[in-house]
Amino acid sequence: MYNPLVVFFCFHYIILFPQVFASKQGRILSYSLPESRLLKKAFGYDEDTYLNFTELTQKYDYSSEEHTVTTQDGYNLKVFRIRSKCETAKGYPVILLHGVYDSSDAWILAGPKLGLGYILADNCYDVWAANHRGNTYSRSHVSLNPDTDPEFWNYSFDEHGNFDVPAIIDYVINKTGRPKVYYIGHSQGTTDFFVLGSLRPEYNNKVHLSVHLAPVAWMKYLQSPIPKLLAPQTKLIKTLLDDLGFRELFAKQQILHFILEKLCQIAPEPICGTGLALATGYKHASISPRTIAVAFGHLLVGGSTKTLAHFGQLIYTKKFQRYDEGREGNMIRYGTGKPPDYNLTLVSSPVLLVCGKSDWLSSLADINELSSRLPNLVEEYVVPDPSWSHNNHVWGVNAPKYVFDKILGYFKVYDDMR
Ligand SMILES: *[C@@H]1O[C@H](CO)[C@@H](O)[C@H](O)[C@H]1NC(C)=O
Ligand SMILES: *[C@@H]1O[C@H](CO)[C@@H](O)[C@H](O)[C@H]1NC(C)=O
Ligand SMILES: *[C@@H]1O[C@H](CO)[C@@H](O)[C@H](O)[C@H]1NC(C)=O
Ligand SMILES: *[C@@H]1O[C@H](CO)[C@@H](O)[C@H](O)[C@H]1NC(C)=O
Repeated sequence: MYNPLVVFFCFHYIILFPQVFASKQGRILSYSLPESRLLKKAFGYDEDTYLNFTELTQKYDYSSEEHTVTTQDGYNLKVFRIRSKCETAKGYPVILLHGVYDSSDAWILAGPKLGLGYILADNCYDVWAANHRGNTYSRSHVSLNPDTDPEFWNYSFDEHGNFDVPAIIDYVINKTGRPKVYYIGHSQGTTDFFVLGSLRPEYNNKVHLSVHLAPVAWMKYLQSPIPKLLAPQTKLIKTLLDDLGFRELFAKQQILHFILEKLCQIAPEPICGTGLALATGYKHASISPRTIAVAFGHLLVGGSTKTLAHFGQLIYTKKFQRYDEGREGNMIRYGTGKPPDYNLTLVSSPVLLVCGKSDWLSSLADINELSSRLPNLVEEYVVPDPSWSHNNHVWGVNAPKYVFDKILGYFKVYDDMR
């Protein structure tokens, strides 16, 4: 019953805080290590590792703005806009949504030659790189305090799709005066969209085309060994972390982030590349060591424990369904004892899926299950490079050639379509 991995998983929290054993249920434990740029500079970190979105865009001579979008349920989300490099923006504004425990920075951290955020702006698009609730940029709410209120962390990708994405779409439509948007998601950012399309189908009319890099919905054929081993223990891990008071996981101000950020500066390829290979199926040299080093300054920047529990549920139930609140909780929330499935038939807007042959988190068999249910599938495109894995879509040296050109080609066709 007690998997050694479960113990390992909780290790970095427990070792820091002997007092957690005295903590009471419902309490929230939060800690934060000081962020010291001076120290990072002194250690010779690549500057791009610690610059934020706005600073990075300024450094590379792009014009950007910070916007705050408030959701119907009170979360304040940070959305960064990169202005198109052309006099008038083309087509429709593009919303970008990152993956799990990641942020808007994913779209630009590889630099102007490889960052999709920059490349879209170069090609005359108005770019809106969003952050879902709870990550380092969107750790804010009109009334709840993330450091003291456990309710702040009571969300998963279900709430991203049900509340965050609709608020962002409405905000962008309002600010730009355009009737529709393009949407590009990576990993969990795709899950968020499928939730939106099935729970809030009226939003399909506001999406001209959505693009899904490393799509995640069904996780029956997940190949990644660690999540596969952990998934059957999801409920145990969730209860354990809740009892200890840890509602926020893998946050930017926590120790794991600091350790990985440092290790990846010293040895991006052997250490962090191997970590990526174990987690996602990454093949060495398909992402540059510099990008890996910089990426780990922007990755693992916070999210809820419930998010991980929801993914665990998809893995062990082999279904794409809403969060299991327990029998009684389900009756109250959904009116049924079991959590309902997301209904993909309702995703009526055009969908382009972009997949990799070596992606251990988003396997081709699972994507086939997804595409067979989508009523308006434009294409299920498999990147021809056999080494293509989960993060190559956003950081890979060949992403412009295999992925971005594909997206720009479709946008060109859809720009003129009503
Ligand atoms: C990014 O950094 C700049 C300069 O340090 C700061 O003014 C700005 O508030 C930061 N933005 C965010 C969203 O953290
Ligand atoms: C955006 O919202 C504001 C306030 O609700 C409204 O006054 C304005 O007309 C809207 N703009 C557009 C372009 O829809
Ligand atoms: C979390 O939110 C859901 C949905 O609003 C609700 O059904 C559930 O009871 C909440 N759980 C807790 C522990 O507050
Ligand atoms: C899913 O939505 C479609 C279209 O509205 C509907 O016909 C179908 O019955 C729904 N399926 C489920 C399981 O609710």
